[in-house]
Amino acid sequence: MTLSTSTQILRSADTSAPILGILADRWSPRSYNTAAVIPEETLTAVLEAARWSPSASNSQPWRFIVGRRGTPTFDAIAANLMGFNQAWAPNASVLIVNVAETTDPDGNARPWAAYDLGQAVAHLSVQAQHEGLHLHQLGGIVAEGLRDAFDIDANFTALTVTALGVLDTPEALGVDALIEREIAPRERLALADILLVNE
Ligand SMILES: Cc1cc2nc3c(=O)[nH]c(=O)nc-3n(C[C@H](O)[C@H](O)[C@H](O)COP(=O)(O)O)c2cc1C
Repeated sequence: MTLSTSTQILRSADTSAPILGILADRWSPRSYNTAAVIPEETLTAVLEAARWSPSASNSQPWRFIVGRRGTPTFDAIAANLMGFNQAWAPNASVLIVNVAETTDPDGNARPWAAYDLGQAVAHLSVQAQHEGLHLHQLGGIVAEGLRDAFDIDANFTALTVTALGVLDTPEALGVDALIEREIAPRERLALADILLVNE
């Protein structure tokens, strides 16, 4: 199966210096091909990229709940997305709950757990882009609903969900407000505005 299709739109970043194409070309679509199935070896590679992310003291405080479309796991994740996200994210091929181990087994806080989980998802996102997939991270989730649905221990917290799939056209979203967001210019603060010190 070809993951890159002629329906793809390129929304490369307008960078102030050349960066890796895989980073410049990554963006967060909401339109996914509802029939696409991600090959198992591709999905494994994407998850493996997260596994090899660095973390504080190699604590690896990340866990993932992976639901393929058509499974009860996928449906339970979709049911715990906040309103707007429910309108589009279930079109993705896979929904992944990103879980942080915020407290270690001895009851000590893991202060970098969220940082480490985010970095693991960043690695996953780069691998996904390499595989010709797209993804969209979601903070708009019902974390306690996910805890109940998947019996997540008190030491762990669901922080985000990742919608992973194959890009479809903006028009496939069907709703004008969503289509406008899909094609809106991508914006960032200027590089000078994020460098607090740069001498
Ligand atoms: C932690 C996090 C939470 C996000 N939550 C949502 C969300 O709930 N719904 C949504 O549509 N997009 C969400 N996004 C996507 C961001 O809005 C998007 O990454 C940002 O606008 C930059 O766009 P780009 O990824 O296309 O460059 C989230 C992204 C991150 C990293």
